[in-house]
Amino acid sequence: MSLCPAHGVSPTGCPVSQRAADFDPFGDGYQQDPPDYLRWSREQEPVFYSPQLGYWVVTRYADIQAIFRDHHTFSPSIALEKITPTGEAANAVLASYGFALNRTLVNEDEPAHMPRRRALMEPFTPAALQQHEPLVRELARAYVDRFIDDGRADLVDQLLWEVPLTVALHFLGVPEEDMDTLRRYSIAHTVNTWGRPKPEEQVAVAHAVGNFWQYAGQVLDKMRQDPDAPGWMQYGLRKQRELPDVVTDSYLHSMMMAGIVAAHETTANATANALKLLLQHPGIWRELCEDASLIPNAVEECLRHNGSVAAWRRLATKAVQVGGVDIPAGAKLLIVTSSANHDERHFADADAVDIRRANASEHLTFGYGAHQCMGKNLARMEMQVFLEELTRRLPHMRLAEQQFTYVPNTSFRGPEHLWVEWDPARNPERADAAVLQAKATVRIGEPSGQAITRSVLVQRVDRVAEGIVRLRLVAPDGRPLPRWAPGAHIDVACGDTGLSRQYSLCGDPADAQALEIAVLREAASRGGSAFLHGVQPGDRLRIRGPRNHFRLDEAAPALVFVAGGIGITPIAAMARRARALGIPYQLHYSGRRRAAMAFVEELVALHGDRLRLHITEEGGRHDLAALLRQPVPGTQVYACGPLRMVQALEAATAHWPEDALHVEHFESTIGTLDPSREHAFEVELRDSGITVPVHADQTLLAALRGANIDVQSDCEEGLCGSCEVRVLAGAIDHRDVVLTRSEREAGQRMMSCCSRACDGRLVLAL
Ligand code: FES
Repeated sequence: MSLCPAHGVSPTGCPVSQRAADFDPFGDGYQQDPPDYLRWSREQEPVFYSPQLGYWVVTRYADIQAIFRDHHTFSPSIALEKITPTGEAANAVLASYGFALNRTLVNEDEPAHMPRRRALMEPFTPAALQQHEPLVRELARAYVDRFIDDGRADLVDQLLWEVPLTVALHFLGVPEEDMDTLRRYSIAHTVNTWGRPKPEEQVAVAHAVGNFWQYAGQVLDKMRQDPDAPGWMQYGLRKQRELPDVVTDSYLHSMMMAGIVAAHETTANATANALKLLLQHPGIWRELCEDASLIPNAVEECLRHNGSVAAWRRLATKAVQVGGVDIPAGAKLLIVTSSANHDERHFADADAVDIRRANASEHLTFGYGAHQCMGKNLARMEMQVFLEELTRRLPHMRLAEQQFTYVPNTSFRGPEHLWVEWDPARNPERADAAVLQAKATVRIGEPSGQAITRSVLVQRVDRVAEGIVRLRLVAPDGRPLPRWAPGAHIDVACGDTGLSRQYSLCGDPADAQALEIAVLREAASRGGSAFLHGVQPGDRLRIRGPRNHFRLDEAAPALVFVAGGIGITPIAAMARRARALGIPYQLHYSGRRRAAMAFVEELVALHGDRLRLHITEEGGRHDLAALLRQPVPGTQVYACGPLRMVQALEAATAHWPEDALHVEHFESTIGTLDPSREHAFEVELRDSGITVPVHADQTLLAALRGANIDVQSDCEEGLCGSCEVRVLAGAIDHRDVVLTRSEREAGQRMMSCCSRACDGRLVLAL
């Protein structure tokens, strides 16, 4: 980075680098691809002063999340301020309309903001949003009907603008008329707030914005005649009766106008961005066409990779450091969330489009914390419906040749047009009318990891011991499968049995073409292992993962591996890895009969005298107490096997350093929730500024989701660790098998799917 006073100095007197001086959020580079345009900044100068803009620009995930988290120090009050001040003529025009857009949920400070947010939240919860899905689907179908036989369409003009607008109007409770006028108004509003209209355009923009303002006021007056009608604004009017000081007239007028823009424009842009991205990756588009269950997470990945909100703005209310850089009081910050969404420190292989990405929904496109977008779940639902309708009815659609253009502004992004084309003769519904009526289940709220599956082909089935088969699974199209590390497992759906079983991967992690599992036929199988013993080469299976909550500590000075029976599968992969890394290790493998123990010959060949076999029928007995009598500092013990063996190991290592023993759990020890034995408690969410009750008959995870808070989840049985939340205060009743003893005792983390509060209250960093 070149630092030179010739490029100017920041308000703190630091020289500005060449690239910071050149930063232009209205130029083509930023407009076309903000994360790529700011790659240099994420890597070299994650917080810099832009003399052209007069803003401090922040580009890394952790810094931006910390800014969202502290909404007192980083005030949102400038979030809707014009980024380029308008001239006097335009201001006079705005004044002539009585334009007085005031604070809204987006840009108001405490203490006013949170009481309003709480008062108006209810209609946005997943339960309340459910009722809107039929309308979204009906509209999407009707609009697609209009162009399905044309072979060519501009999806922005012919679908994506009008449907979210109509949905937004319904949601807000606004009459449907004047749609074209509204469309013009909301474009003008974007340019007025976030863009840089030329002086000669400013007056025209100001007239449109003034008209929009007046229109919003008239509609609100109409609504006052019938405040019991459905709609969010009417809900606000009813709340006004209860809380007149919180939900004021001027507030409702401002929300009316801002709500129309926020509710539809961002969704239209987000869907256009998503479709553009997916159609640019035809392999991914095909996968979605073949498997609609992938759509909810694909929506999150599109929002992460190419969301419709590129950046937000904040005002520093006091002198503060961001990412180690001094920011003076009163400084304006441009926090580029689209850049944070491509930060390799948070998202592995961040530039890749991965619709199965486990943490895709951690994107910051909806913001985070107290000012997170309230309409996020409405937007998610609409995007899912659009993708589902289009993948089913137009799977053969492709992007037409075109130049993408964007309305120049720093924050809201989406192509003005999205031309697609297809051969109508190949429309699936011409051959089969049932295509028209099919629909997948839309997931309202945070996508669950349980929905992310992939199809694999059984390439080989080998019998590796009595009652044990090894399955070699490959991608149907021959592409590489996801990378995995020893200890990882996959979940396999067992045909139509409705059962899913977890199996550790036992092959070679370096072999990207295949995943291998070994399956023991359980005597008391409810259908899972029996089903897998019946599969043949050429069959297809559905799997989830690989996922890993049994990771090997590759920095350990020495390792002891203990496997019982089929528990050898993860342990075999770990021991191979220890050998490759040159870590001293011992491998203990016990079983009743040699013929029923998998991989014995391979293990002997690979591990030589580091392997000890303990075979009951041959007089062997595994004396764990003797093996582990003498604790060895630093040595880590990894074990997988029957419950009795695990319990014996826990007893044998009780005097070892804490956390020396690592056990693979496949079965949850938590039963179903029994409300008669639980107590209700409440959780204060420090970052979001709300308190959520958790009833005796619900999990913390369910309560958080019901309150519109995103938390990842997968197993929902305390096994995988994906629903972890940070705890700031309160005693935790831990019920998972993920955290170690010392992690539990530290009391700073908990699994929200199963663990609860010991007492009446917990404070969480959410
Ligand atoms: Fe797996 Fe909670 S979702 S531990």
